[in-house]
Amino acid sequence: MTELELLAQHVSEGLAAPQKALSPAWFYDDEGSRLFQQIMALPEYYLTRAEHALLEARGDELAALIDPAGQPLDLVELGSGDGSKMLGLLGRLRARNPGTVYRPVDLSEHALTELARRFGEQLPELTLAPVRGDYFNAWPPAGAGRRQVALYMGSNLGNQDQPGALSLLRRIRGKLRPGDALVLGLDMVKDPRVILAAYHDGQGVTARFNLNLLARLNRELGMDFALDRFAHYACYNPLDGAARSFLVSALTQEVHSSHLGRSFHFAAGETIYTEQSQKYTPAMVQALAEQSGFEPAGLLLDEAGWYGLAFWRVADKG
Ligand code: AVI
Repeated sequence: MTELELLAQHVSEGLAAPQKALSPAWFYDDEGSRLFQQIMALPEYYLTRAEHALLEARGDELAALIDPAGQPLDLVELGSGDGSKMLGLLGRLRARNPGTVYRPVDLSEHALTELARRFGEQLPELTLAPVRGDYFNAWPPAGAGRRQVALYMGSNLGNQDQPGALSLLRRIRGKLRPGDALVLGLDMVKDPRVILAAYHDGQGVTARFNLNLLARLNRELGMDFALDRFAHYACYNPLDGAARSFLVSALTQEVHSSHLGRSFHFAAGETIYTEQSQKYTPAMVQALAEQSGFEPAGLLLDEAGWYGLAFWRVADKG
């Protein structure tokens, strides 16, 4: 199926369901990616800064976990983007082990070109082998005698619901061999007010990011969403550790798609569920590792306990 066919099917199903829902995977058109860059720089959106600070502060410990014995090593980063946040860690790993190869995997050609330029300038001694494509189809095969360590950073796992997260982790596990490992960047449970503010910022950038999904549907599926008839709504539930975002219909309305040849009815106050951003406790991280077939072998937290880098091993056989 083409991208457009996938989107058409997703929207037909998602907007016809009793609880309307669209996947956050569709946020990232050009404008959505630009708005996400702005979100990462917002004062309320602490996640990106926390991950970066943790990689700096505890990078040596993480490098020692990733590469304890200096064996030839492939670092496969899923959804690398432009890779800028990984420069410090990769510099450390390369210094420990000249046999380190960085294999960033991303769907965006633009991000990988930017990554290659940046690494060429700032870490030219590192062997770089970018791969464009979907994580699992594009997953680079492990060379003989080389360990693979997968990296899934940026709290991206949090955008999956529990079954989705488990299935993704099991697929990653399926690509790895005994002795390999996975590093996850995870946002931790904290003061609910801090979490809520991260998804409900004062400048309204997150609202524009959420509403941009409707602009995308207007453009790609010939829909006639009036963006001023929908509002961004975010909430955080301390009982399950999930921040959730919705788009709320301000009034009763019909929205038509010329591409799909059908309309969707919205009652006043009806919501489209657009995103989950899961926060974790250390116990949840441990349980996820065990349920997906990994051996949890370290959770590096920042001083405030706001953000974590989980290190999980694939146990050696027998
Ligand atoms: C990409 N992902 C981890 C972000 C998050 O925090 O869930 C996406 C995001 N949505 C709104 N703000 C940021």
